Amino acid sequence: MVKSPSILAYHKAFKPQAELPLKVPRIAGLEGFKIAVLGAGRIGSSLVKSFVKCGFQVTATGRREETLRRAESLGALATRDNKAAIASSETVIISVKPFQLHSLIREIKGHLDGKIVVSIVAGVKRSTLENALEAAPVYRAMPNINASIGLSSTALSGPQDGEAAKIVESILSCSGKVYWIPEEWLDAWTAVSGSMPAFAALIIDALALGGVSAGLPKELAMNAVLDSFKGTIEMISRGVHPMVLRDEVVTPAGVTIAGLKIMEYMKVPSALIEAVEEAARKARELGSIVDNAVRGS
Ligand SMILES: NC(=O)c1ccc[n+]([C@@H]2O[C@H](COP(=O)([O-])OP(=O)(O)OC[C@H]3O[C@@H](n4cnc5c(N)ncnc54)[C@H](OP(=O)(O)O)[C@@H]3O)[C@@H](O)[C@H]2O)c1
Repeated sequence: MVKSPSILAYHKAFKPQAELPLKVPRIAGLEGFKIAVLGAGRIGSSLVKSFVKCGFQVTATGRREETLRRAESLGALATRDNKAAIASSETVIISVKPFQLHSLIREIKGHLDGKIVVSIVAGVKRSTLENALEAAPVYRAMPNINASIGLSSTALSGPQDGEAAKIVESILSCSGKVYWIPEEWLDAWTAVSGSMPAFAALIIDALALGGVSAGLPKELAMNAVLDSFKGTIEMISRGVHPMVLRDEVVTPAGVTIAGLKIMEYMKVPSALIEAVEEAARKARELGSIVDNAVRGS
């Protein structure tokens, strides 16, 4: 049983975690495999962290000193020279922002012969990238920021047959679960996975604030919410239907139905459905703008 410390202790314990531990699988046969991560920003450096822990040899690129130093601190070789990073690697991950893709393509076009290329740039189609980069096949992946602790939920699109597909899947499984999906589902995936850590964080924080409003210290309320989410996720993952679980908790004229009634009255379920749909719409809209820009260049 966890002993309940004083309220003061909760306040003292409440500090951001500087270094989050990461558990990674062992990828047999790919030890020392060479990967270039072009654009080691927020998501790029999360991937770098898991790739390094998996035993891959990673060369990361960026433009600012700060980006390069962070990549080095994660165990990668760091350089501003994208072409050199490609030359020293077998697989190339493209993780710059969509609006930065244009100038990167100009720099690396024609230098990807014989490399396995994976783009995690939202919206830009495989066919567009293959034409622009003069490389084939190009895979597209959509991870999320939970890659930094090996818990990404990553979608992958591209030809599923052959050695390259196995390598790409193995590399990405280093940062979490990998699902092969048709390319046309990637915008919806961006909403349910790419954006999900932000959606989930907002909901979790709001529920913890509810606990504060009801009189609990924030840290304790947050622990209750997180423990309950973990347990609920486990129950649902093991096959309990969400609505069956809900009905198990609800008692006639009880506490839970009082809260659920407010959630229904405030249209929380429809708001969440709309939020995901709107994010997917936005991913499609931004994607087609960037895709057209890259195709037209
Ligand atoms: N963030 C997410 O959760 C997430 C999830 C899935 C997919 N994505 C996709 O991942 C991509 C990156 O997103 P992000 O949030 O990680 O953005 P970010 O933090 O801005 O990272 C982009 C990185 O690219 C680097 N860069 C830009 N131009 C470059 C060039 N020519 N050569 C080398 N490096 C270059 C930047 O380096 P400097 O900072 O040094 O300029 C920066 O570190 C986007 O296309 C996004 O759609 C993001």
